[in-house]
Amino acid sequence: MLTYDLDLSIRDATVATPIEQIFLLTDENASLHCLPLVLKTINIPREHILTIPAGDSNKTLAFTEQIWNFLFSHGATRSSLLLNLGGGMICDMGGFAAATYMRGISYVNIPTTLLADVDAASGGKVGINYNGIKNAIGTFARPKAVIISADFLATLPTKEFLSGFAEMLKHSLISSPLELNRILSYDIDSAPHDELCTLIERSLIIKNYIVEQDPEEHGLRKSLNFGHTIGHAIEQYQLRAGNPIPHGYAVFYGLLAELYLSVKLLGLNDSVIRQCLPLLYNYYGKPQCSCRDQDELIELMRHDKKNIAAGHINFTLLKAVGNARINQECTNADIREALDWLFAL
Ligand code: GLY
Repeated sequence: MLTYDLDLSIRDATVATPIEQIFLLTDENASLHCLPLVLKTINIPREHILTIPAGDSNKTLAFTEQIWNFLFSHGATRSSLLLNLGGGMICDMGGFAAATYMRGISYVNIPTTLLADVDAASGGKVGINYNGIKNAIGTFARPKAVIISADFLATLPTKEFLSGFAEMLKHSLISSPLELNRILSYDIDSAPHDELCTLIERSLIIKNYIVEQDPEEHGLRKSLNFGHTIGHAIEQYQLRAGNPIPHGYAVFYGLLAELYLSVKLLGLNDSVIRQCLPLLYNYYGKPQCSCRDQDELIELMRHDKKNIAAGHINFTLLKAVGNARINQECTNADIREALDWLFAL
């Protein structure tokens, strides 16, 4: 399923039906920096390439329609393949367009950011934003293959790198102390390439192991939501405030706050927090929210689509590193305490 670098032809991917035509969806950034490398390996006619503007705000129904229209106008059939070259926005929306075009055509993701490498590109959660809610419309449809090229990461801005690194940290926290030590020992400043490739691979093994067992998130897959209840609220709050932060930064803050809740409510050893805090001081910086924002943050958590019952806020917490507990409800007082702690760091 997982293949590395681009010296691989699409024929090698596990596509069940023979592919008649290949189409490629990308955004303006990936088109500039990554498409030339892809076209060295895969022959795709120019008219089969659709480039859309970059940015999560374009993950919309309007752009999905544009992708469907593009596929229809070029005679794409159920034997066509869509390649999604880009970050999370392209993987999510391209996967959704492919999953719904003529009841579903095959698609392959070629992620171009670390965040998409370790999160959006695999696992088959596809969708678009709707009515101001992130990923409100979507489905589960796994890609036929994910092609990861670490070459794309060489030009990645530090913020983009750290955004993906937070998801890798999450995977290690829900996996084992050994994986956590691996991640925390990585020297972000010198960023050794081979070691990063190994970490990406480890991260995907963890994610795919979970997804294989619970592809549609009825239970175990919820462990991948660790850090995301508070993280999503911070991300949405910052977006509304006109001061957006990268997804992985919000996840990192969410991880810290949910580690705090894990210590308080499940007896997680607080040394885990001490191990992770240098990342805050050295790289991510302090969150820009403050205690004044707590009511709005809790309101955002209350409307999180991960909640099982309306009005009840649902968390994944850790009893120990590698021992995640899903469907944990916390009181408002607990959440406020965790936010107070986070904002005072
Ligand atoms: N991003 C979490 C998941 O794929 O389930």
